[in-house]
Amino acid sequence: MEANRLLIKNAKALVGVHPAGTGRVAGAAMATLPLLEQGWLMAEEGIITAMGTDADWPGITDWNGLEVIDADGRYVLPGWCDPHTHTVFAAPREGEFVDRINGLTYQEIAAKGGGIVNSAMRLRGMAEDDLYAQAKLRLEEMMRQGTVAVEIKSGYGLDADSELKMLRVVRRLKQTLPMQVRATLLAAHAIPPEYKDNRSGYVDLVVKELIPRVAEEDLAQYVDCFCETNYFTVAEMERILEAGARHGLPGKVHVNQFTSIGAIPAAVARHARSVDHLEVMQEADIDALKGSPVMPTLLPSCSFFLGIPYGPARKLVEAGLPVALATDFNPGTTPSGNMNLVVALACIKLRLLPEEAINAATLNAAAAMDLGAELGSLTVGKRASLIITKPVPSLAYLPYAFGQDHIDTVIIDGRTVRTGEAAA
Ligand code: NIG
Ligand code: FE
Repeated sequence: MEANRLLIKNAKALVGVHPAGTGRVAGAAMATLPLLEQGWLMAEEGIITAMGTDADWPGITDWNGLEVIDADGRYVLPGWCDPHTHTVFAAPREGEFVDRINGLTYQEIAAKGGGIVNSAMRLRGMAEDDLYAQAKLRLEEMMRQGTVAVEIKSGYGLDADSELKMLRVVRRLKQTLPMQVRATLLAAHAIPPEYKDNRSGYVDLVVKELIPRVAEEDLAQYVDCFCETNYFTVAEMERILEAGARHGLPGKVHVNQFTSIGAIPAAVARHARSVDHLEVMQEADIDALKGSPVMPTLLPSCSFFLGIPYGPARKLVEAGLPVALATDFNPGTTPSGNMNLVVALACIKLRLLPEEAINAATLNAAAAMDLGAELGSLTVGKRASLIITKPVPSLAYLPYAFGQDHIDTVIIDGRTVRTGEAAA
């Protein structure tokens, strides 16, 4: 087979050229986004092998299997990493969207039989092949928008068979798509109707049956729980995190979306990988995160869509903490998997600087799903999974001119998945 070699030359800048071993950036360091201006990048067999600037361009001696892309004034960025999605689902829920316009709250929609349970009822009846085919289309669109790695949760099955069905769909997506895929068991997303008078019976099912089975079959790498008033209590989340830890599945948990009930200190104490949402935060929640390796993950397109508060990104950064960004792509609260929009909202609504937002959507987002050694920056030894922009005047222009498509080319593991003018 011909070698897979790639040279990108003439970049306006290579962006996010963090030194090898940079696990994440936190606090003031989040504003540091290292660049190589007038850069070139070489990749072989999907891995970045060398980078530099015009001044140190060594020339090409070996043309074997070499694809050359002239980036000519365009930026080259690490591809987006999206560490929180619910991309496998049965059907969109635009009816609820209209209900919300008519004034119903998230809780009222759930009480009417909408929300997560509604999605579960539809998914239970759906064939695995159909779920796969629909999710594949969504993920292909996300790749075109520059996403090179994604975490996908179960949580619309709410019974053992259907949760496992969802995770098998995720496994098939991982096997067939070029992007990196991580899986999370979110059986504790809502109490299923069959268990409404037996909550502890459902948590038992998750803890005693599902977590051991999922770990044994390697169907997920993480466990999640929607810890929220009217969903799962802190004590229930603790049981789930402890069971996950016993089986090698760290937590990535939904916390503080609507209320602050002590979930963050509990998740930190149980070594969660990330705490996600964080729209409603108290000082004690921020204090609990200080000095911990847990990644605070914000989902501004969920706040945008629901019209709920945005997470306190500036306060987190000022407390010396890191922030990661994700879409939360799901049919109820965020029907969008577009990380470009998330980066724009992070600047517009969270008041992150463009450099901070890009770090949050690449390096820190990769760290939030343990992919930091292979993705999240343009670094020798990492995967050549990257975005080449259209010609734009500056990096700040990307979030500034929001809603426009600034992507020219997307490359995953050295292979082009979206061909633009640069590659032509
Ligand atoms: O992350 N908050 C909990 N879960 C999802 C919403 C799921 C749904 O409404 O279907 C979220 O926003
Ligand atoms: Fe979510």
